[in-house]
Amino acid sequence: MKAKRAIAIAAFAAGAALSTSAYAANTCVIAGDSYDLDDAGVNAIYDCIKDQMVEAYAKGGDELATAYRSWAPTATRPAVAGAHSERFLMTFANDIAAEQYLKFEDEGVQMPVGSILAKESFKANKKGVVKVGPLFLMTKLEAGAAPEYGDWLYGGIQPNGKPLKIKQSFCHDCHVGWEDQDALAYPLEEVRISAE
Ligand code: HEC
Repeated sequence: MKAKRAIAIAAFAAGAALSTSAYAANTCVIAGDSYDLDDAGVNAIYDCIKDQMVEAYAKGGDELATAYRSWAPTATRPAVAGAHSERFLMTFANDIAAEQYLKFEDEGVQMPVGSILAKESFKANKKGVVKVGPLFLMTKLEAGAAPEYGDWLYGGIQPNGKPLKIKQSFCHDCHVGWEDQDALAYPLEEVRISAE
């Protein structure tokens, strides 16, 4: 435990030090391996990058880009699951989705029409500088609207505010692996926030 905490503090200290010298004031830095950061370390980075993320997504004027932060958070903090290019991921559920999503059920899940899951992402580059990644979106359409994709519409917003160019099949081919969970993969178990 002690060693992990030391890494986290080092990461934060490096971030603070570098941000006043080599980098611009709003630069967030992870020193070392992202997988080694503990809760405090991740939270420090998230605090640093949080506002930049929403600013980035909102550049194109998309309403969801600012609205999603008022939705139900589904995890205690961002986490690296591996998928989505090893980015830190943090998912929010809109009002329609929250009740069912936060049960994290693994069988017979059927999300209500109008559910939206928004997943923000960030990642350190080779120098440890944290960059905003895309906001990934899944919207549940009416039954029969897109049966080949489980009636999900996959989408996203790039950090420049423009829509993410994707093929529905690219996203769904992986998400369909969680068929019993209505194609939802859920955050890592150790960071999930369950409904009361
Ligand atoms: C290689 C597999 C893979 C691909 C491809 C993929 N995802 Fe995901 N996705 C995951 C995993 C795993 C999670 C859960 C990760 C986490 O939050 O810790 C996830 C979570 C999500 C979530 C949060 C809802 C949930 O499933 O719990 C959204 C929204 C999402 N992905 C959108 C997309 C979009 C849009 C695309 C296409 C651009 C995409 N995904 C492509 C594996 C994938």
